[in-house]
Amino acid sequence: MQAGLEGIVVAETILSHAEPERGMLWVRGRSVGELPPLGYEGTVALLWDGFAGRDLTRGGMTESFGAARRDAFARLNASLPAIAAQPLDVAVRIGLAALSDDTAPAAIPATLAVLVPAFLRAAAGKPLLPPEPSLPTAADVLRMLHGDVPNEGRAAALDAYFAAMAESGMSASAFAGRVVASTHASLVAAVLAAFCAFTGPLHGGAPGPTLDMLDAAAAADAAGDLDLWIERKLNSGERLMGFGHRVFRGNDPRAAAIRAALQHMEPGASRLDFAGRLEARVAAAVERLKPGRKLPPNVEVMAALLLDAVGIPRQAFTATFAITRSAGWIAHALEQRQTGRMMRPASEYVGPLIKP
Ligand code: COA
Repeated sequence: MQAGLEGIVVAETILSHAEPERGMLWVRGRSVGELPPLGYEGTVALLWDGFAGRDLTRGGMTESFGAARRDAFARLNASLPAIAAQPLDVAVRIGLAALSDDTAPAAIPATLAVLVPAFLRAAAGKPLLPPEPSLPTAADVLRMLHGDVPNEGRAAALDAYFAAMAESGMSASAFAGRVVASTHASLVAAVLAAFCAFTGPLHGGAPGPTLDMLDAAAAADAAGDLDLWIERKLNSGERLMGFGHRVFRGNDPRAAAIRAALQHMEPGASRLDFAGRLEARVAAAVERLKPGRKLPPNVEVMAALLLDAVGIPRQAFTATFAITRSAGWIAHALEQRQTGRMMRPASEYVGPLIKP
């Protein structure tokens, strides 16, 4: 048995392909670094082409997502009071579960794009803002959250994050979504299953705790104790959030794409220098304490800095990540339905022998 299904091929896909040894991730034949210039909508058009329509374009996706956000806002207004009392990730689960089984693909990311800022405004006692359908998703999420159209740097940074993070292969969440889609359950059911798998701290739940960890590391650094702090964590067996990856054992190519987006933001908007220093000190500590082992940073350190810099509160990082990643889950679910077979693996019985 292969614990964690590591290296087990569970599907054939044309969606994406990781080349860990070269630190590359390809999405429909484009490297992840080529996605931010396409924008989130252009990336989704690429990802969904042949699955949720044909000859999809960035402009067409911007229109469909805009119209779907308008409809989602009309629906949400009625249900928000009931879900606003819950933690955000629970509210997202409820929001997804409430969608009908015949929901169109574009309505799913659009629902999340409306739900996340509406929830945060409601929690802060602020009036809700309806979407502006002509805007790209990222700019509109920031506008609905903060109340005004974001400056170009912030809008471009979140858009680049959305583009780079929409799809990353057979993650635990994509796999969960594919299992559900393989039974021919609805697209909404598949996305809900994917989201549930996503919320764990080892996966999509990582960016918020990663920012907490960066804050704690910065405090230790200010006290002159950074190396000691890292060593304590490693020696106690605690996981350093934002480090390690099942597939990318060296460079995580998404981190470079997000770092580039951060570098284009106004000066002082991020803590890139400290993150770079922390990454180097973690690498040195791992070499000292566990020679030969590697613990490279994954994408989450850069992702946490970017989400913080554009003004997303840390308790909303997972739900914001899900806005974009839901597009990837949809592509996986639709591909599974088109080409896959019902998933029904086997288990190895290791219990007591049953006497005849
Ligand atoms: N901090 C400290 N140690 C870590 C670690 C981390 N972030 N990630 C892995 N390790 C350790 C493991 O505990 C294990 O040690 P052991 O052999 O002494 O038990 C060893 O490194 C090998 O682990 P590995 O098999 O490579 O990890 P995995 O493939 O099961 O886990 C993650 C991959 C992503 C779940 C893991 O690296 C992790 O928990 N990272 C932190 C959470 C995170 O940032 N998630 C977002 C991913 S994009």
